[in-house]
Amino acid sequence: MLRVGVLVSGGGTNLQAILDAIDQGVITNAAVQVVISNNKNAYALERARNHGIDALCISPKDYPDREGFYAALLDTVDSYELDLIVLAGYLVTIPAKMIQKYRNRIINIHPSLLPSFCGVGYYGLKVHEAALARGVKITGATVHYVDEGTDTGPIILQKAVEVKEGDTPQVLQRRVMEEAEWKILPQAINMIANKA
Ligand code: GRF
Repeated sequence: MLRVGVLVSGGGTNLQAILDAIDQGVITNAAVQVVISNNKNAYALERARNHGIDALCISPKDYPDREGFYAALLDTVDSYELDLIVLAGYLVTIPAKMIQKYRNRIINIHPSLLPSFCGVGYYGLKVHEAALARGVKITGATVHYVDEGTDTGPIILQKAVEVKEGDTPQVLQRRVMEEAEWKILPQAINMIANKA
């Protein structure tokens, strides 16, 4: 049974997609042990609590410095003896020590077809604003392993999504979530859980 931890910062729709996929048997041999957010108000934590899953807030604001926060985050992750860490809209940099310790066991969902529209500053709506500004006809989402770079680790899965005439960043974001993110993130977890 793959022991999974999910790191979140916001609404948690990707977390919900994971929980629903496990409940529906789309993901097998995996269970979410803990959900951790840097934001105590993240609705993702409510989604975890509603599912009876440990929901923790570990915020940089609660530590005297960044190193103290990183140590608390890593100690907490270690305590759950996780096989896989999923970044589902997590907006805080993962400490290098954690990346090294969990090499190829941390995955991230990014709302574009990497290597387009990624890197520092490309997150959430900003990604879709950039895609619309560039005028791409196809965008999508990517699940990749996390390495020391920003959105640079090995790609696991991608799914393309059509950009439509008159799309706003919000409309495009929702389509990318519905048609891509909420499908390929559970699919990637299932592949890892079943070593597909
Ligand atoms: C999504 O747009 C996702 O692509 C990005 O951050 C956002 C998280 O959304 N990584 P949610 O918190 O899963 O609803």
